[in-house]
Amino acid sequence: MFTVSRADLGPGFTFGAATAAYQIEGGQTDGRGPSIWDSFAATGSNVKNHDDGSVACDHYNRWPEDLDLVRDGGFDAYRFSFAWPRLIPEGTGAVNKAGLDFYDRLIDGMLERGIKPFATLYHWDLPSALQDKGGWMNRDIAGWFADYAALIARRYGDRLHAVATINEPWCVAFLSHYLGVHAPGYRDLRAAARAMHHVLLAHGTGVDALRVEGAKNLGIVLNLEKAEAASDSPEDVAAADMGDALFNRWYLGGVLKGEYPKLLTDELAPYLPKTYERDMPVISRSLDWVGINYYTRGIYAAAPDQPFGITKVSGDLEKSDLGWEIYPKGLEDLLVRVSTDYTDLPLYVTETGMSEDDDSKRVAYYDGHLKAVANAKARGANVDGFFAWSLLDNYEWAEGYTSRFGIVHVDYDTQVRTPKGSYRAFQGMLHNTK
Ligand code: FCB
Repeated sequence: MFTVSRADLGPGFTFGAATAAYQIEGGQTDGRGPSIWDSFAATGSNVKNHDDGSVACDHYNRWPEDLDLVRDGGFDAYRFSFAWPRLIPEGTGAVNKAGLDFYDRLIDGMLERGIKPFATLYHWDLPSALQDKGGWMNRDIAGWFADYAALIARRYGDRLHAVATINEPWCVAFLSHYLGVHAPGYRDLRAAARAMHHVLLAHGTGVDALRVEGAKNLGIVLNLEKAEAASDSPEDVAAADMGDALFNRWYLGGVLKGEYPKLLTDELAPYLPKTYERDMPVISRSLDWVGINYYTRGIYAAAPDQPFGITKVSGDLEKSDLGWEIYPKGLEDLLVRVSTDYTDLPLYVTETGMSEDDDSKRVAYYDGHLKAVANAKARGANVDGFFAWSLLDNYEWAEGYTSRFGIVHVDYDTQVRTPKGSYRAFQGMLHNTK
């Protein structure tokens, strides 16, 4: 059970559970085109056990049962993503009718159950045909993405409660084009700098397209980490500042203020598109809400021989089975910071959760992070909702199926779903209106 109650988060607060298309859907034979995650997973040792999303949780067929779990848990909302290659198999041009119909059924299924649809347009499954043209490195992606956004707004816009353009642009750009950990697996500074800019440009053109087609309640989902210095030395403090710029301020500043941190534009100058400044008004289009995904903090030390002069060091807090430190105060501080320094817009915690087989630890994790949100609100942060990552155990990208984030257990041999104690804890809290 949680010690936090629904009332602690205030009236009108939205509780939800989150997933993403590639991580749960499977159903890849029904006209869906290939995505960068299919070929990335098929390559060498990119993904543990060479796991891929071809079957995943078979949500493509089992979605009614999954939506029943959302409803029965007492959640108000469900955060899901559209698979671009399911809707437009080649990324541009012809649409896949089976894909259009699937999301009709899914969205109508939410509405029939009284669940608010929170949609994400892009959660990492780029159509391979667009990668062949350079993907996020190619400026044309701003137009490709806008066309895809317009299709979704026309078909589903009036049924969606909220729409996010991009999930976690840091991961799309830096993790995938500089660190090489996620698809397409580049380790190249120019590729990364271009992706860092184009992913935000596409966000802006996507917002314009959604608005033109009448979609409402638009946002973006940023992953933030509290950046802390390994020591009080000026070198480590400067390293934490650089870490913060790379992870947080590039995206917060770009989207909410139309400016990038100067120390990064200096550093990346040879690699950024020459006229990037002209795009800042599009990148910073007005929004209706901001989503924040939060998992842990980053501790930085100076490392003159490393890229950007920094290195991340391990902390001594309790960790999840992925080695991520559990640090609810980091969420509290980040929410206060975003509301104080960046925007008056409503914030949603669009993801938080823990990879762990021992679910009692997950119950404590959520209790602590819900309290952190209540504390942030008491300190003036404008937070309107909280989504658990994830509804189901699912395909955890490069970790494959070894990492379990679900509040519902999935047996991948039988596809049987079994609610965990953490699901029951949410259910207990959400059904108790006191
Ligand atoms: C986030 C992703 C989500 C999931 C969690 C654990 O970075 O948005 O798909 O992988 O981490």
